[in-house]
Amino acid sequence: MLRGKHILIGVTGGIAAYKVCYLVRELVKGGADVKVVMTEAATKFVTPLTFSALSGHDTVSDLWTSNQSTNSEIGTRHIDLANWCDLFVIAPASANTIAKIASGQSDNLLTVLALATTRPLVLAPAMDADMFINPVTQKNLATLKERGCFVIPPAEGEHASGLRGPGRFPDIDPIVHFIEDVLNKVTQDLKGKKILVTAGPTYEAIDPVRFVGNRSSGKMGFAIANAAALRGATVTLVAGPVHLETPRNVKRVDVESAKHMYDAVMEHVKKADAVIMAAAVADYAPVSPAKQKIKKQAKQETLELSLASTPDILASLGEKKKGTTLVGFALETENGLANAKEKLKKKNLDLIVLNSLSDEGAGFESDTNVVTIIDKKGKSEKLPTLPKFDVANEILDRVKKLL
Ligand SMILES: Cc1cc2nc3c(=O)[nH]c(=O)nc-3n(C[C@H](O)[C@H](O)[C@H](O)COP(=O)(O)O)c2cc1C
Repeated sequence: MLRGKHILIGVTGGIAAYKVCYLVRELVKGGADVKVVMTEAATKFVTPLTFSALSGHDTVSDLWTSNQSTNSEIGTRHIDLANWCDLFVIAPASANTIAKIASGQSDNLLTVLALATTRPLVLAPAMDADMFINPVTQKNLATLKERGCFVIPPAEGEHASGLRGPGRFPDIDPIVHFIEDVLNKVTQDLKGKKILVTAGPTYEAIDPVRFVGNRSSGKMGFAIANAAALRGATVTLVAGPVHLETPRNVKRVDVESAKHMYDAVMEHVKKADAVIMAAAVADYAPVSPAKQKIKKQAKQETLELSLASTPDILASLGEKKKGTTLVGFALETENGLANAKEKLKKKNLDLIVLNSLSDEGAGFESDTNVVTIIDKKGKSEKLPTLPKFDVANEILDRVKKLL
């Protein structure tokens, strides 16, 4: 997996910087072409010369001076390395650099490259336990994960300070395996394909402040968009109202109601090779939303809400389908398999993904999911409990065969 791969290693100012020397050596031994960029703080821990000797390339750290490593002029060096790499691994990733990347700062060569690159970004956080468990660091890491960065879980144990807890730089072997696993998942096998994904719930207005909605978090659809983009597809994500970061290299279109989602999907479907409808679109919406907030009436015990069916996006896509691969999702509380198979047939889908509500590790807010994938011939496969990112890749593997 490593042979011939261009791996850019970003070293930041942490005590574990010396361990990255061994990481560079292992990656080079595995056949990778490795270049190293360091922050100024990192150079206080290990000299650039050490990394140059291990990688066989000049180590870069200064945004403002030219060097021979990239064979480029100073004017484009910061972009050239971003495009040169197949993978950018920041190890160790200091709390400071994690915070900078999460907020889009780019005041040194390493953070400029992190912002500029469209290639997969892997972070290996390493810091004192108290810095690691600090909610702001955890929030920054969660943000970066939502955007599609890969975070290597740090090890637990004793730190240089004597503190015990999480935040230790892991051993080199697990890091190399993690890198190989990422490279395996981001093969550009969907390059040139255009994939339209929908995600999240829809909100149907009752009045200007209230709505009818559902519990979808959008995580499954966002994971599909992220995985497809990492595999090289051009991805448009039509998202209902959710609080999730946009995955890197994904074009996001925000919508609110089923009608908005219908319009956005119809606009973007024209160019799509595949449509994956992971959104939980409301089936019914209030017939005539009130223009002003509905007031509580003193003597009124009940309030009736009249609902009308919303446009059926999947059925419309199925009717007009000409060569586009169409994937739907189903969530049933009873007769799941039979109902999902009927939906697949009725809406002219190529695949349907049946979500489970009852299995442990499945459900709306969960980061894992338990799904059954059913194809046109009625063949169904129940997958084990997997992270939503892995479920996304399982779905995409099957979509790829149909494209
Ligand atoms: C001796 C020493 C060890 C440090 N170790 C770490 C560390 O392991 N992790 C970390 O996040 N910060 C550590 N720091 C703090 C960072 O070096 C500091 O936040 C610095 O600004 C990081 O800069 P950079 O992110 O640009 O590399 C350490 C500082 C010192 C003086």
